[in-house]
Amino acid sequence: MSDKTLTIVSDTDGTRLEMPVRSGTVGPDVVDIGALYKQLGVFTLDPGFVSTASCESAITYIDGDEGVLLYRGYPVDQLAERSSFLEVAYLLLNGELPTRGQLEHFTHIITTHTMINETLLRHFNGFHHNAHPMAMLSSVVGSMSAFYHDSTDIESARHREIFAHRIIAKIPTIAAAAYKHSVGQPFMYPRNDLDYCSNLLHMFFAVPCDQYRVDPVAAEALDLLFILHADHEQNASTSTVRLAGSSGTNPYAAISAGIATLWGPAHGGANEAVLNMLEKIGSVENIPKFIAKAKDKDDPFRLMGFGHRVYKNFDPRAKLIRTMCHKVLNRLGHTDSPMFELALRLEEIALEDEYFIERKLYPNVDFYSGIIYRALGIPTSMFTVMFAIARTVGWVAHWQEMIVDPKRRIGRPRQLYTGAGNRDYVPIERRGS
Ligand code: SDX
Repeated sequence: MSDKTLTIVSDTDGTRLEMPVRSGTVGPDVVDIGALYKQLGVFTLDPGFVSTASCESAITYIDGDEGVLLYRGYPVDQLAERSSFLEVAYLLLNGELPTRGQLEHFTHIITTHTMINETLLRHFNGFHHNAHPMAMLSSVVGSMSAFYHDSTDIESARHREIFAHRIIAKIPTIAAAAYKHSVGQPFMYPRNDLDYCSNLLHMFFAVPCDQYRVDPVAAEALDLLFILHADHEQNASTSTVRLAGSSGTNPYAAISAGIATLWGPAHGGANEAVLNMLEKIGSVENIPKFIAKAKDKDDPFRLMGFGHRVYKNFDPRAKLIRTMCHKVLNRLGHTDSPMFELALRLEEIALEDEYFIERKLYPNVDFYSGIIYRALGIPTSMFTVMFAIARTVGWVAHWQEMIVDPKRRIGRPRQLYTGAGNRDYVPIERRGS
């Protein structure tokens, strides 16, 4: 606990309040305003939580100005280069890199829990074939609360561990079932002889009537994308999972709420919106027209995949994914990808434009990821589902951290009320025509 304080003085009656200032391992200090309302009878107001820390966390650190992203202290570019998604999952959940034995045990647990209850599979028959996969994912994950109510005692460390392993193991299977339903193909069961990402590609693209060989390049690309999407501090969907979980609800319900939040085009839904935008732009000649639309205050259009609440520099993940695009497209034989060329030119033109420079709007994680997903044969409507598969690890890590916090309380923000003052009911006959 630091001895730094911030003193504020009320200009109504001169009351002084000294609030403790706390420092983290790295990053901005925080002012603990917990006593503010009790002492001075006022709230703080911060729509969008631009200047508000909602919690204390040891999982992920972002430096938006320097473009730094650390998972449990390890730079994401080192993990991208040398780790694997399941090793990163272990790190985010447990706080330390696993020993060889720990990783083998964790991998075995995840691999052998990928099947879902057959009754859960029948849920998909209730969806029209053109249901959006994110709607299916959030709905089926939410309904896991109905199946696994026997192992969701959130006060039990063992139940929390079972939940973590179960949801991380099964989310790819549920995602693949949503994809198969949307294309009218039979569901493909997971295979325990395949690694996490190869198994996902198998469940997506194998069919009963033919042999399917997973392309190791595709599996490697997916593993890297999942590392880069695994966690990102207190983003909107993670904050939703924390807030939902703070009520003590079933953890599957909290994850389902996170999926629903991620779906928004301002958040994880942007990767799907980027590809739709690039298709609408169509050619390099049209870029200036769309840049102008993005700058026009009267036009709701925004350059999807650009800008970030925290990064006021390059999103380190965007840089890594852009580099990966070249490698994956070449290794998958897509020597020319008009979409990728268009994205590169759009980035170049936008980053020369005063509007984007002044507002520090750079490509974010969603700008290039869809180009790789498309090269892997994944349809645009499934892009945010891919994001959700990876981010499930971060959601679980933050949910666990929130649940075991001895200072845990239900999240319940207040407001600045600007509605009508107290007034009496008016009978309908006296309300005028
Ligand atoms: C993700 O939080 C996370 O960590 C999220 C994420 C994660 O890993 O969890 O990183 C994943 O969600 C990435 C973001 C994906 N979303 C998009 O690509 C959608 C397009 N981006 C914007 O909608 C926007 O940049 C946000 C939502 C990402 C950030 O919104 P902010 O922080 O509220 O910024 P803002 O809307 O206040 O914008 C500041 C200014 C405004 O102009 P002025 O009013 O100052 O004149 O920048 C402009 C905005 O109009 N602006 C854009 C723009 N983004 C911001 N103008 C055109 N195109 C854009 N993309």
